[in-house]
Amino acid sequence: MALKVWIVEVFSVEDNLMVPKYNRKVKLRAEYDPQGINLKLLEMDESNQLLEFPVDADTDCCKVGTTSYLFAIENDTILIKFSNRDEARYFTIAITKIKSGKDASIFSVRTEDSSAAQYFQFYGYLSQQQNMLQDFVRTYTYQRAILCNLEDFKDKVVLDVGAGSGILSFFAAQAGAKRIYAVEASTMAHYAQKLVEANNLTSSIKVIPGKIEEVELPEKVDVIISEPMGYMLYNERMLESYLNAKRWLAPTGKMYPSRGDLHIVPFTDDALYMEQYSKANFWFQTCFHGVNLSALQNCAVKEYFRQPIVDTFDIRICMSKSIRHVVDFLETDETDLHTIDIPLEFHILESGTCHGLAFWFDVAFGGSQQTIWLSTAPTEPLTHWYQVRCLLEQPLLLKQGQVLTGRVVLLANKRQSYDVTIELTVEGTTQTSQNTLDLKNPYFRYTGAPVQPPPGKRISLCCSAGCPSALDKRRAPPDKRGVVRRRAAFASEKRASVRRRMLHSLDCQEHVCWLRQ
Ligand SMILES: C[S@@+](CC[C@H](N)C(=O)[O-])C[C@H]1O[C@@H](n2cnc3c(N)ncnc32)[C@H](O)[C@@H]1O
Repeated sequence: MALKVWIVEVFSVEDNLMVPKYNRKVKLRAEYDPQGINLKLLEMDESNQLLEFPVDADTDCCKVGTTSYLFAIENDTILIKFSNRDEARYFTIAITKIKSGKDASIFSVRTEDSSAAQYFQFYGYLSQQQNMLQDFVRTYTYQRAILCNLEDFKDKVVLDVGAGSGILSFFAAQAGAKRIYAVEASTMAHYAQKLVEANNLTSSIKVIPGKIEEVELPEKVDVIISEPMGYMLYNERMLESYLNAKRWLAPTGKMYPSRGDLHIVPFTDDALYMEQYSKANFWFQTCFHGVNLSALQNCAVKEYFRQPIVDTFDIRICMSKSIRHVVDFLETDETDLHTIDIPLEFHILESGTCHGLAFWFDVAFGGSQQTIWLSTAPTEPLTHWYQVRCLLEQPLLLKQGQVLTGRVVLLANKRQSYDVTIELTVEGTTQTSQNTLDLKNPYFRYTGAPVQPPPGKRISLCCSAGCPSALDKRRAPPDKRGVVRRRAAFASEKRASVRRRMLHSLDCQEHVCWLRQ
């Protein structure tokens, strides 16, 4: 999708000599890129691309005279000559903005450049969008939420935040929306535009490439739709972008989803604890190829325990009812998500060793006609968000009837994630435990193998009295029953092929996990 096209002449500059690069006029096309813009030189009929290069804050370039611009790109220095001063001026303004970073937005202030580059590169892959689209629970629930609430969409103006392939915009169009602005910051915006054209929806869906924090819309909207949830709800910090979009929401407008609930519960899992601990035993060796590694064993233990575990589990490992932390997306400001401090108080239902806290989330679509829930609970069919567990290096021995208190503090960082601190105390004792984990660097433990109940628990298909899931206040909404079989089929397909929401950094040396498999 072109931001702008010019007809230009291009020269190569070598040893102070300027020679025509193509011997003919060519098209210069500026396209949106998450880091700045992408410039393409094309034949006039656009049949052939001659050159492509990105322009960002570090690009070596300058204006020459009144109608030309010089770029040093890799081993080449090229001079682009515009037809007139006005065209050159327009181009210069665009480049100057990128170079000076004048457009620094809330997003760029809160995000490291390298993190943003990796993040949007990841979402630019069709395979990653496909991975999310094929999460049937997710995609089907969004479609139901929209189509069960036609009143909220018919003839309405809609904003799709982080549209990706545009799927939610298509659902809004199916519900009769008048106009839909599909804002997408990765290069997936090009593909979304292709789909819009191929589905003959150019009159209603307007794809806007760019970050929601940086784009301008021509009007206020009646509804904002988005799928901004990361692992443990908050990872990726996209909820903040979703909340930032409210500057475009009309006073009585709606948010789809309207609310997010994070569930937290203490769990017992000896096998998981031992597995993490024993990984660090490698560093206990005193003669590894003749080298004593043991000085690093403690550091290795700390590193493994900083990793949240992403997988699923048998709900019988839960030691009490879950605590629910609710975020109302209409009421909450994006800055409220910079530090999330959740007080904890658990009434222990069964004696055992507490190895940490387990997390999952639900979101609700509170429509005018129906409220639809999307749940990632361990009692529900598996989604690509799985569940997340944070281990304690020092487990706590708990007795039935005791009260476990403390807090979880999620502290946002510039890597589009959170540092998660857990503090727990067993009331009436001196037992305490604390750990800080890096949500950006989780351990993907899911293998597809069936989950095991804790030792000593009978394997039964129904919940008995005292089972935490039986005590869960809000169970699966009845309207979900019809799709359970199809969802189960999806879950088993996922188990068969574990696809990691993982991307390689630009230099391919460091793994960065985006926590959606
Ligand atoms: C989880 S995907 C959802 C894609 C699509 N809405 C769907 O449901 O399949 C999130 C998308 O939001 C985009 N995104 C994330 N932060 C954004 C921002 N600040 N502005 C615009 N797009 C953003 C990502 O590039 C990604 O394509």
